[in-house]
Amino acid sequence: MPAIQAADSPIFFFPGVMVSNLTGSNTVTDRCTQARSNVQLWPPQASDLVAGRDCWYQSIRLNYTAGRFVNGTGVSVWPTPFATPPTAANASLAIWVAELQKLFPTYKYGENLFILGYDWRLDLNSMGSSSQLSQLAAAILSRSSASSRAIFMGHSLGALLAAQLLSLPDVRARVKGFISYAAPFGGTPAAILPRTSGELAALVPPELLTGVSFPIAGFEALVRGVTWNGVKGLASLAMMLPYSTAYANGTDPVVVRTASRSYRVSQMAGLLRDVGDTLLADTFNKTHTLDKLIANGPIPGVDVYCVYGSNISTVRQLVFNVTLSDKIAPLPSAYLYGRGDSVVPFDSLRLCDRLTTGTSKVRRVPGTSGKHLGIFIEPAVLAQTRGIIAALRRRI
Ligand SMILES: *[C@@H]1O[C@H](CO)[C@@H](O)[C@H](O)[C@H]1NC(C)=O
Ligand SMILES: *[C@@H]1O[C@H](CO)[C@@H](O)[C@H](O)[C@H]1NC(C)=O
Ligand SMILES: *[C@@H]1O[C@H](CO)[C@@H](O)[C@H](O)[C@H]1NC(C)=O
Ligand SMILES: *[C@@H]1O[C@H](CO)[C@@H](O)[C@H](O)[C@H]1NC(C)=O
Ligand SMILES: *[C@@H]1O[C@H](CO)[C@@H](O)[C@H](O)[C@H]1NC(C)=O
Ligand SMILES: *[C@@H]1O[C@H](CO)[C@@H](O)[C@H](O)[C@H]1NC(C)=O
Ligand SMILES: *[C@@H]1O[C@H](CO)[C@@H](O)[C@H](O)[C@H]1NC(C)=O
Ligand SMILES: *[C@@H]1O[C@H](CO)[C@@H](O)[C@H](O)[C@H]1NC(C)=O
Repeated sequence: MPAIQAADSPIFFFPGVMVSNLTGSNTVTDRCTQARSNVQLWPPQASDLVAGRDCWYQSIRLNYTAGRFVNGTGVSVWPTPFATPPTAANASLAIWVAELQKLFPTYKYGENLFILGYDWRLDLNSMGSSSQLSQLAAAILSRSSASSRAIFMGHSLGALLAAQLLSLPDVRARVKGFISYAAPFGGTPAAILPRTSGELAALVPPELLTGVSFPIAGFEALVRGVTWNGVKGLASLAMMLPYSTAYANGTDPVVVRTASRSYRVSQMAGLLRDVGDTLLADTFNKTHTLDKLIANGPIPGVDVYCVYGSNISTVRQLVFNVTLSDKIAPLPSAYLYGRGDSVVPFDSLRLCDRLTTGTSKVRRVPGTSGKHLGIFIEPAVLAQTRGIIAALRRRI
């Protein structure tokens, strides 16, 4: 690897939920026709969605033991590090790489510009107690130095992970700046839909699933079924549900209404129980270590910038015309809206501000260019990013 110039702070980007590829091996064969090794589990392959569904669920599903989420029994799953640049020309990460290299010609993907893959199934607590965080830390330490401290950029769940990594003193010592895009610090009602209705659209970039779509009758219902089953026990999803103290200033609003009852923020564990997700219901509090992170306030030695949309119509309450139970619910029959970035409510996004050292580091993107998915490749946001990186590179 060529020496990094002092001015070229390496850039590490942490993508959002379900963007990193996952590979796995499965030694148990009660659901799979044979043991499998080194198979691509995410993005799923067409065969996973049809005949191989039960095998796929078994491979991807987490177990819980000794206070943290782990791989299922007999299963190993690991993220693919992004060793090569993303190739799909119009995928958001490919656009991001191309734009960054254009804005700063001294950056070259794989040399001083990296996208880090991670096991997005996990909550931050479990990432910390598995080897996940330490593996990422090692990757960062080996590609940065005390004289060319790094810049972190994180989108959505990836920004939460970046913030968590910055709580490690040896990582923090190697980082001068962190740009957080659209971080859902207080959680978002959008994370409820995959669990109740098998609907992912609000959370994942559309290009991610184009590879697995094939035009057969009933495809949409099939995908919703697979999603609904696939996100059972998904710790990261529970972590991104609205949670009690950080959300809406602790006012505990109703986020879900159904034909028979309503659920406040403080009742999300009860909602998980009602939809049959006993594991996430039982562990709900364990997946919420974010309050502690925010309470710690600004990160010593790291300039934190918060970039997010603030004035786009965003769902605050889901109204179902059925009672939620352990089966796939229809999509909500109505929604109540507030302001936010189209996925995360404004007051959740604003919790990021507490990590900054001043209002000058908060960028509320006007208009619709602050939309949650792909915010980091919006031209207006790229212009902001350029200014922030230039300022950070001047910083010793
Ligand atoms: C899953 O298995 C892989 C490979 O053994 C391991 O690296 C990873 O830490 C495990 N993850 C969890 C959450 O248990
Ligand atoms: C979780 O672990 C328990 C105890 O080892 C085991 O019985 C169960 O099958 C595991 N579940 C999964 C999804 O691997
Ligand atoms: C992830 O998997 C997809 C589908 O197989 C592939 O097109 C893509 O290049 C992979 N990405 C990485 C970073 O390995
Ligand atoms: C990417 O390009 C393909 C083919 O040109 C197009 O069908 C698709 O909609 C594009 N995806 C995005 C996210 O722009
Ligand atoms: C939350 O509290 C802040 C500061 O006290 C206040 O400015 C803001 O309007 C409150 N937001 C809501 C949704 O009540
Ligand atoms: C989870 O936290 C809430 C709010 O702090 C508390 O009321 C509840 O008893 C906790 N639940 C469990 C299972 O610890
Ligand atoms: C927010 O959006 C509304 C409706 O789209 C618009 O009327 C209002 O002026 C905007 N406010 C700000 C501060 O941009
Ligand atoms: C319930 O909501 C679904 C989804 O919006 C809708 O298709 C259905 O017609 C509604 N049913 C009733 C009885 O209102």
